[in-house]
Amino acid sequence: MISKPKCLTPLSSPSSSSSSSSLAIAAVAPLLRPRFYAETCPEAEYLVRDVIKKNMEREPRSAASVMRLQFHDCFVNGCDGSLLLDDTPNMLGEKLSLSNINSLRSYEVIDEAKETLERVCPGVVSCADILIMAARDAVVLSGGPNWEVKLGRQDSLTASQKDSDDIMPSPRANASYLIELFSKFNLSTKDLVALSGSHSIGKGRCFSIVFRLYNQSGTGRPDPAIEPIFREKLDKLCPQGGDGNVTGDLDATPERFDNQYFKDLMNGRGFLNSDQTLFTYPETREYVRLFSRNLNEFLKAFVEGMIKLGDLQSGRPGEIRQNCRVVNSRPADVLLET
Ligand code: HEM
Ligand SMILES: *[C@@H]1O[C@H](CO)[C@@H](O)[C@H](O)[C@H]1NC(C)=O
Ligand SMILES: *[C@@H]1O[C@H](CO)[C@@H](O)[C@H](O)[C@H]1NC(C)=O
Ligand SMILES: *[C@@H]1O[C@H](CO)[C@@H](O)[C@H](O)[C@H]1NC(C)=O
Ligand SMILES: *[C@@H]1O[C@H](CO)[C@@H](O)[C@H](O)[C@H]1NC(C)=O
Repeated sequence: MISKPKCLTPLSSPSSSSSSSSLAIAAVAPLLRPRFYAETCPEAEYLVRDVIKKNMEREPRSAASVMRLQFHDCFVNGCDGSLLLDDTPNMLGEKLSLSNINSLRSYEVIDEAKETLERVCPGVVSCADILIMAARDAVVLSGGPNWEVKLGRQDSLTASQKDSDDIMPSPRANASYLIELFSKFNLSTKDLVALSGSHSIGKGRCFSIVFRLYNQSGTGRPDPAIEPIFREKLDKLCPQGGDGNVTGDLDATPERFDNQYFKDLMNGRGFLNSDQTLFTYPETREYVRLFSRNLNEFLKAFVEGMIKLGDLQSGRPGEIRQNCRVVNSRPADVLLET
């Protein structure tokens, strides 16, 4: 467990959080529900979708990049926008953690959605909720399913690089490790496979796959699960000692949210080891088969998984940030500095 930064302690004590303050901090995880902003910011969901749409017109990949943020936010101390906080001299945030550095992107899309909402209904919509809406919208606008999101989250007052390092799975992970990890979040094996189907859109770096191309599990050999023609293609894209930042498609239709990802896995054409392992392992293989055959089964399971993922909460105190990258400044901060 991480120890709480000292500057936050007085804020969570009853003496300093006056009930009349607009900076009031929730003591327990708020109840999430659909249409949470129906009265306070009725345009919120429409406005977020519009920002996602415009960004996709500028750069199609931003849909995938924005969607991924939900996973990386929600697994680390709940869906609380902690992922979005920039580092400060006193706090190493999550942006530079092992899984996120040089990899997560499109933070500026979330900033744009926040700026839009702050103009229309200032101080109302949390960054954590914007992430959840944005992820859903990215899926819809990529041709995937639509669903109603539960809202009412608060933004964290801190973030932890270490927690992200400890929790987020490596692209090298195998299915048994992933089953175990997801079960810690009450996500089933079916949820794991369905949520991995988010790799139906987007790209990954050579850095994430060179080990499986040239030295899988320290064998000095490639991963035998890779189909040979596909491996030749990946070897060309990612030569040994080449630029780790070069990217390849996560499935054969990287801008379309569909079940091509699962068909690719069945043909040994998964990009990441963590993808291909879902077909290699018997515990997950049947779900890959099912989702490759039946698009609707995939879409239904995916939506269920996204809702469960969005339900993860830390129960820690929160706020509605004005800027997703920094916690709001508080009178108490000033007191502590003097
Ligand atoms: C099951 C465990 C998972 C692992 C090990 C994993 C790992 C990765 C890795 C290594 C990349 C490429 C990053 C890079 O090379 O820079 C990636 C991309 C991506 N991941 Fe996952 N992921 C997992 C689950 C998920 C989940 C649950 C979601 C969303 C619900 C998700 C959404 C995405 C998306 C959309 C991309 C493409 C992003 C882009 O193009 O910018 N992933 N993932
Ligand atoms: C799966 O990965 C875990 C953690 O890295 C490792 O301990 C385990 O031996 C692996 N399982 C197999 C069958 O390779
Ligand atoms: C998983 O479910 C159990 C039982 O309902 C609950 O006590 C626990 O907090 C849940 N864990 C997470 C990470 O949500
Ligand atoms: C492959 O990985 C193993 C274990 O990590 C390492 O000892 C070995 O030097 C690597 N081989 C090559 C050719 O990079
Ligand atoms: C990718 O680019 C970043 C930023 O330019 C650089 O710091 C990093 O070392 C590169 N990563 C790899 C794996 O080559």
